[in-house]
Amino acid sequence: MPRLNSLITDLAPPPIPSVQAWARAYDGAFGPTIDLSQAVPGYPPHPDLIAMLTAAAADLSTAAYGPIEGDRALREALADDESALYGAAIAADNIHITSGCNQAFICAALAVAEPGSRVLLSNPFYFNHETSLRMFGVGTGLVDCPAEGGFLPSLEALDAAIAPDVRAFAVVSPNNPTGAVYPPALLAALLELCRRRGIWLILDETYRDFLPAEAKQPHDLFLRPGWGDGLISLYSFSKSFCVPGYRLGAVTASPVVVRRASARLPSQRRSRSSAPGARQTEPKSLFARRR
Ligand SMILES: Cc1ncc(COP(=O)(O)O)c(C=O)c1O
Repeated sequence: MPRLNSLITDLAPPPIPSVQAWARAYDGAFGPTIDLSQAVPGYPPHPDLIAMLTAAAADLSTAAYGPIEGDRALREALADDESALYGAAIAADNIHITSGCNQAFICAALAVAEPGSRVLLSNPFYFNHETSLRMFGVGTGLVDCPAEGGFLPSLEALDAAIAPDVRAFAVVSPNNPTGAVYPPALLAALLELCRRRGIWLILDETYRDFLPAEAKQPHDLFLRPGWGDGLISLYSFSKSFCVPGYRLGAVTASPVVVRRASARLPSQRRSRSSAPGARQTEPKSLFARRR
């Protein structure tokens, strides 16, 4: 057999199928299985969203290639939604629609890190971030988030981990796997430190719609002058809209980063993963269909 890419063959097996195999092998001796291995929505998408998806599937134009950064209407709708959530001025040019948040992470990481450089991960990390970086020959470093510190990174640990080959610090809040919610003040301090040390903060906000109502805003980073020089935020439609199979995510960043992020992964330049139904129906109404 001709040679295979060692960056792929050397990867550890993905953890979710491994855990699912343990569950299948478990004989129930200690009670019923509770599967926490993957954040899978436990209820279906909003009926209106199903109707939109059905209409989109019947619309021939959605079968065609779309704009690389995603459909303009969806970018505008997400920009409006984020502007309202954060009380900030986020524009469509700040948004890049991707095939899921996992691809958003790859776009963000490849926009800022080349093979041989490193991205720091808060530890424990979301396994897919580490796998994605290794696949592209980008190294990792770990910033420990111990249980006794609420699974949060300290500024001292981050500061000590930053070295000349480090391009970014990637964090997830609310966090997978620990569930830690990063306080807004900590996120602000992390962004400030990253900017001071000349690296990016990549913030995966897949679970931001699941914060308790009293949390109001996940953070105020988008209100900080020059935020686009340090922050790249990632979003997933999978959990909030219960549509993981439709592979829809987004990068929110400065227009410069959006252009660089969308210049990557040419083979994935996009078909219509940019919100089925968003073009023919009223895209803004999509955001009322979160579940
Ligand atoms: C932190 C985090 N980011 C990204 C994803 C994947 O999102 P998507 O389905 O949009 O690729 C998940 C899914 O479990 C996740 O937990």
